[in-house]
Amino acid sequence: MKEDTPYLEIEGGFELSGEVRVSGAKNAVLPVLAATLLVPGIYRLARVPRLLDLYTMLELLEYLGASFRWEEDLLVVDTQRVEGWEAPYALVSRMRGSILVLGALTARFGRARVAKPGGCPIGPRPVDLHTRGLALMGARVEDQNEIWVEAPQGLRGAEIVLDFPSVTATENLLMAAVRARGRSRIVNAAREPEVEFLGRFLEAMGAKIRGLGTGVLEIEGGRELTPPSEPVTIIPDRIETGTYLMLAGLCGGEITVAGTEPQYLEAPLLKLREAGLEVEWEADRVYARATGPLRPLKVVTAPYPGFPTDLQAQIMVLLTQAHGISRITENLFKERFRHVPELQRMGADIEQEGGIAFVRGPTPLRAAEVKAHDLRAGASLVLAALAAEGVSRVYGLEHLDRGYEALEEKLRALGARIRRRREESFAAGRPSWAARGG
Ligand code: EPZ
Repeated sequence: MKEDTPYLEIEGGFELSGEVRVSGAKNAVLPVLAATLLVPGIYRLARVPRLLDLYTMLELLEYLGASFRWEEDLLVVDTQRVEGWEAPYALVSRMRGSILVLGALTARFGRARVAKPGGCPIGPRPVDLHTRGLALMGARVEDQNEIWVEAPQGLRGAEIVLDFPSVTATENLLMAAVRARGRSRIVNAAREPEVEFLGRFLEAMGAKIRGLGTGVLEIEGGRELTPPSEPVTIIPDRIETGTYLMLAGLCGGEITVAGTEPQYLEAPLLKLREAGLEVEWEADRVYARATGPLRPLKVVTAPYPGFPTDLQAQIMVLLTQAHGISRITENLFKERFRHVPELQRMGADIEQEGGIAFVRGPTPLRAAEVKAHDLRAGASLVLAALAAEGVSRVYGLEHLDRGYEALEEKLRALGARIRRRREESFAAGRPSWAARGG
């Protein structure tokens, strides 16, 4: 049987320079789309990134009874005919972010059934903080093969302490709390900009929330909510911003990332400066360039405002070019190192044990055939291929396309030699190019 495997063909080793404009944030638009389930109505969103994950979430909303259309660049979502409260495995397994409908559906319908997302390439991702919070709000919860939540009398306000400032758990409980009877407090809440943005969106719907951007959220539940009267613009993607900035240290040019929010990126920007990059920012743009040999770093991933785990793989590639030994500690997803063996195939000198990786540099990277096993690993392999002499092939685009809008076009605008290609191969037999000795 013939199969058609897409891959990125990248000829690396060239200087890249110029300006790239970031898209709206994947991890901001997903919770906002879930929030449109809270009350029936028409929601208009601007700067929505055209990503696989966006379409998966829209497919889930459609499955629940919503509809959507594009009005030029505005995404218009209509949730007036939503009746469903079940999220099936077929959709949830494609994107863990689907869990975000749990709080909104429970708040709207007094019940929800969401299939368990199953295994994730970056390690175990339990949902106990989500379900325990809903149980404290008076729901009956079953958490076996699927999550089954019931609150026939509706949810009531509660005092919730999160054992860990989980991003989506905070978002789910925030969405539940704005429709619960009475006041709620979420202590040790996540402070990520995407969480704060969801809070602002809920406020635009009429919710009353104190402490957004801090670790303690106070919510006056039960207020009347309506869709925001004006279109809401999705915040820029800080992870996409950070990904492009790494190019300044890897491909020797001057990179400007425009349309971004520098204040959301302080930890990564200061780390890049520590590594010896010249990094400046103003209003909505960040500028970076290499001024000399890169210095090794210690990087420890942490909840916001610490160094984001979603930039761990990308900075690892940068540090393969630093003069000395860097140490990267992954504290959020201990198994988030599936990019390491692929980078080693490209000649990187990395030793990884448990949640720590040691990167020795500078080590010239060489072109190779590599495969992305998760979204950010994919981004790191593209960066490595752009830095490596020769022509690489990056497979696993089903991961990369989940979180980077118009990646090839944006990179080509910086001078990259990159194109998406399809490879015909026989599922059972050797790939077609093997015969040609490729
Ligand atoms: C969000 O995932 C992001 N996804 C992730 O981005 C990001 O890596 C992560 O936050 C951390 O910043 C979205 O926003 C859609 P967590 P989330 O709950 O909410 C433990 C990307 O590449 N935990 O904050 O699932 C968990 O195991 C993706 O864009 C529990 O123990 O992450 C982990 O160790 C990948 N019980 C830690 O908390 C729970 O109930 C942080 O996870 C929930 C989480």
